[in-house]
Amino acid sequence: MARDDLASAAIRVQGLKKRYAAFRKPLDALLGVDLEIARGDAFGFLGPNGAGKTTTIRILATILSPTAGSAEVGGHDIREDPMAVRSLIGYMPENAGGYPLMTGQDNLLYWARLQDITGSGARERAKSLLATVGLEEAAGQKVKTYSHGMKKRLLMASALIHDPDILLLDEPAGGLDPQGIRFFRDLIHGLRQKGKTVFLSSHILSEVEQTCSTIGIIQKGRMVAVDRVEAIRQRVGAVAPARVEVDCDPPSASTVQLLRQIPKVRMVWSTPAGILVEAEPGADVADEITRVLVTDHVRIRAIRPFEPTLEDAFLSLLGGAPS
Ligand SMILES: Nc1ncnc2c1ncn2[C@@H]1O[C@H](COP(=O)(O)OP(=O)(O)OP(=O)(O)O)[C@@H](O)[C@H]1O
Ligand SMILES: [Mg+2]
Repeated sequence: MARDDLASAAIRVQGLKKRYAAFRKPLDALLGVDLEIARGDAFGFLGPNGAGKTTTIRILATILSPTAGSAEVGGHDIREDPMAVRSLIGYMPENAGGYPLMTGQDNLLYWARLQDITGSGARERAKSLLATVGLEEAAGQKVKTYSHGMKKRLLMASALIHDPDILLLDEPAGGLDPQGIRFFRDLIHGLRQKGKTVFLSSHILSEVEQTCSTIGIIQKGRMVAVDRVEAIRQRVGAVAPARVEVDCDPPSASTVQLLRQIPKVRMVWSTPAGILVEAEPGADVADEITRVLVTDHVRIRAIRPFEPTLEDAFLSLLGGAPS
């Protein structure tokens, strides 16, 4: 087993292409994807609908064959050694699933058997995972009675059944309520602390920002950016305008005029809570705004500089609309 490779990169993808045969016209879903994810990293795979996220994850999970290119997972080639890949990965598909006529617990025991875990070991593992994902009470219920969020939790438990080193999670928090989103976020933090490699796709940009250390953005089957979260944010910070939001009493026209004259300030807007000041990228104008308002006796309740968010990054890297 290629442990040395595992030490350097958990996932390595080169020139990956996928063409779906279709009735009228074949569809090129991946046009040459390159990626390298270090062991123990949490990689957030972002992209608009139809960008190729699920296609990539399914290829890495050895469920789908690529048309061209290569991929290694845990040092094993997905085409040459799919069984070795499967034993190393936990795959959580995009759509909430599980066998509907079986109970949650039986679903897990079934998945355990597929990974050669049987007997009391399997029962203990299933029990502890059901507790981990908060399905203890629903363990004996048929999955067809589960809500979407419960099915997602069950799929997560299935992915973890053999304690895999690498998790491939396709929109784990998709369609969940805030509590469910937080649950998955905490679970992924826990996995990272255990040294697992996590590859997750998401539309929830704030989630990726909080959960992942590296992000890759895919659009129309091509990677448009791969970098550390911080670096992507900085890249955007260099071009995004600096903004300061102030909760205050409405300033007079003459005060607004003084605010506009602060060096590097471009615009001043009034907002329901006060004003919003936009300045040149990287400009730090909060102190000067405060000075002007205080001098003109405008009561300030709060002043908040805006950090460019990952959403700004996402939109600017996609060149505008995310679809
Ligand atoms: N089985 C298939 N046959 C034909 N085309 C497909 C098939 N599966 C996916 N596609 C197409 O491939 C492209 C990529 O789809 P994919 O599901 O990988 O996108 P995605 O990034 O996961 O999107 P979403 O955010 O909506 O889940 C899309 O244009 C989609 O229509
Ligand atoms: Mg998808």
